[in-house]
Amino acid sequence: MTEQTADLTAPDAAPAVADNSRKVFIKTYGCQMNVYDSTRMSDALARDGYVQTEEMDEADLVLLNTCHIREKAAEKVYSELGRLRDMKKARNGDGREFMIGVTGCVAQAEGAEILRRAPAVDVVIGPQTYHRLPEALQRARGGDRVVDTDYALEDKFEHLPKTDKALIRARGVTAFLTVQEGCDKFCTFCVVPYTRGSEVSRPVSQIIDEAMRLVDGGVREVTLLGQNVNAWRADGPDGREWTLGDLLYRLADIPGLERLRYTTSHPRDMDDRLIAAHADLRKLMPYLHLPIQSGSDRILKAMNRRHTADDYLRLIERIRAARPDIAMSGDFITGFPGETDADFEATMEVVKAVHYAAAFSFKYSSRPGTPGADLPDHVPEKVKAERLERLQALLIEQQKAFNESCVGREVSLLLEKPGRYGGQLIGRSPWLQSVIVDAKDERIGDIIPVRITGTGPNSLYADILRGV
Ligand code: SAH
Ligand code: SF4
Ligand code: F3S
Repeated sequence: MTEQTADLTAPDAAPAVADNSRKVFIKTYGCQMNVYDSTRMSDALARDGYVQTEEMDEADLVLLNTCHIREKAAEKVYSELGRLRDMKKARNGDGREFMIGVTGCVAQAEGAEILRRAPAVDVVIGPQTYHRLPEALQRARGGDRVVDTDYALEDKFEHLPKTDKALIRARGVTAFLTVQEGCDKFCTFCVVPYTRGSEVSRPVSQIIDEAMRLVDGGVREVTLLGQNVNAWRADGPDGREWTLGDLLYRLADIPGLERLRYTTSHPRDMDDRLIAAHADLRKLMPYLHLPIQSGSDRILKAMNRRHTADDYLRLIERIRAARPDIAMSGDFITGFPGETDADFEATMEVVKAVHYAAAFSFKYSSRPGTPGADLPDHVPEKVKAERLERLQALLIEQQKAFNESCVGREVSLLLEKPGRYGGQLIGRSPWLQSVIVDAKDERIGDIIPVRITGTGPNSLYADILRGV
């Protein structure tokens, strides 16, 4: 038990890749922060001799890294656990170790309740304690069923092993980097302040160090993550308090780090420095995910978003003045309690005014323990669904229009992965579109000029501009 804790902080630990190594399968639900956490759990387990597998059947350990944001998300976990229970029975018959862990936001929200409802589960670990995963597994091997969801006093990032260079390389040329966690906003529909705790920002040096390691491992594009990423603030090396804009200016100085993004932002935290970064930094991609949730001031107030629709629209005007080619994306909820037809039409009006390049939209899901759940006038499911359908039709139309407006334009592409057919590579445009090209000498990781030639259902097509 002690061996892992002692070794966890060792820098540059090599991953164990022996043939008889144990294998972990991690299924990730929810947001990008969970995607990032899954990679860090994999790092923690690598120190313990685990290698990650994409095949659940060959795993000795299955982790479900879960999401609690909507009812459906949480339900999926229990149905998956039902399947895993059967798998465990079959495996135990073979005498092979097979462990099941639940991590992430359902783990945090439900804790020991998961052990009660799903007797096959061995460990339940929250988003702030997963650096202690190897230790929990060791205890589980001794027959304990472990729940570790306390908000740890120590900083998990200080206790996680640094990601091995070979693993960074294997994960590709783009990477997530969590800089901020938790939320103090308490929107009345949302579980995040309860599952992820209050806002915490990682220190500048830790972030720079991790970004440099990523670049050293071949990463060209880094997306800074936080539940409220633009609420990030920390002491800067110059003695001032830095906000996200300052951090972006600093990261843009790292040679080899060619592209920067950040998500998810709250409109109230878009300060002048961050907007200036969009004007000044070539490396900061012209794409911003800025959720509004509803276009009705009455509903925004009931959601505790603490801004009006007009504040939001004026903010976007300022951002577009700083960076005219910026593409906007957003999140929307239909059928928040008390939402009338007129409130919903106000949401449609905001969408028409903004012209989104992409968006996520959801039916309101009542979450136990949030203030929204106790509000009167819950909207019937059918009405929520009808509104969602209309909203999505408009958003899809706008996304198509945006994609079509790119045809004929010259853009830069970061080549990320092979395409379906020989010779094809798939890259990302500055606006997060997936773009297919026919490559010759170009390689994954190259950033190349292309001209967009057409649009398909999920991707765009482009010709590489050679010799320019
Ligand atoms: N911090 C981000 C959002 C994180 S949750 C922000 O403030 O914008 C991601 C999205 O899930 C939210 O933007 C919201 O659109 C949606 N969401 C959150 N809780 C929800 C609920 N109870 N029902 C439906 N959608 C919800
Ligand atoms: Fe949830 Fe609101 Fe916090 Fe976003 S800002 S995570 S929607 S409470
Ligand atoms: Fe879901 Fe937790 Fe992210 S609830 S959306 S996984 S912060």
